[in-house]
Amino acid sequence: MTELVTLYQQGAVLQITLQRPEKKNALNQAMYLQLTAALEQAADDKSVGAVLITGSSDSFSSGNDLADFVAMADKPEGLAPVMEFLHRLAAFPKPMIAAVNGLAIGIGTTMLLHCDLVYACPEAKFQLPFVDLGLVPEGGSSLLLPNMLGHQKASELLLLAERFNAETAYRLGLVNQLVNVDELQHHAMEQAEKLASKPPLALQAAKQMIKSHRQMGLSEVIDIEGREFATKLKQQEARAALAAFLQRR
Ligand code: COA
Repeated sequence: MTELVTLYQQGAVLQITLQRPEKKNALNQAMYLQLTAALEQAADDKSVGAVLITGSSDSFSSGNDLADFVAMADKPEGLAPVMEFLHRLAAFPKPMIAAVNGLAIGIGTTMLLHCDLVYACPEAKFQLPFVDLGLVPEGGSSLLLPNMLGHQKASELLLLAERFNAETAYRLGLVNQLVNVDELQHHAMEQAEKLASKPPLALQAAKQMIKSHRQMGLSEVIDIEGREFATKLKQQEARAALAAFLQRR
């Protein structure tokens, strides 16, 4: 069976690559379980100083697998692997770097709000289409985005929900730097290596301090969003929007 999430350690950096290119790296349940396990392992493994996450081919991630969402409407326990991953990511103690090599939709974008450094290629596109799908924000984004961007900008991204480009993501501060796609992996790895070479206890303490004001209430918000998300998945608005995507061909 092909691995949908691959792990590769270069020095003290663990690289996690989403490997489902034929579905634009949409995340299914097996992938969430693998991602959670990878983060658990990376948190415990002293040889890992930083984690770099990226996507394969032309996408970072097209978000949660929409067919899985349909299945979860009648089986809300199906959301458990997503929730576990989100909590693990939000509390991950070591530096987390993202290399956004293309489309980042839904959780493909909300995941980035938890990363410490984000690099993207100029072709990358971002979108938070929850409301258009009859759903609500997840991953703590209803708390993190207003805190980061202010109410109006957060509302623009989460309610108007239009796709935005890498330049906009950079201007908004969601991305540290735009890097040509050919150099993106290398650059992100170099930055991750720099972090991983620093005194680990000081680095982790500093990360925790930088994030401390954001962490207040974050775990609860992730749960509140998750419960509302599960409710919305059952309702007609989401069922119709998801069916429209799956039947569009
Ligand atoms: N869940 C499940 N399958 C997905 C997917 C997702 N989130 N995103 C893409 N795919 C699948 C497509 O169904 C297609 O599968 P097929 O070849 O078996 O028909 C394949 O990935 C390629 O996608 P396609 O739509 O043909 O590529 P594109 O370049 O025209 O568009 C996207 C790419 C990502 C813009 C488009 O697929 C899309 O809008 N996907 C949904 C994104 C989304 O709403 N995510 C959830 C957020 S909560």
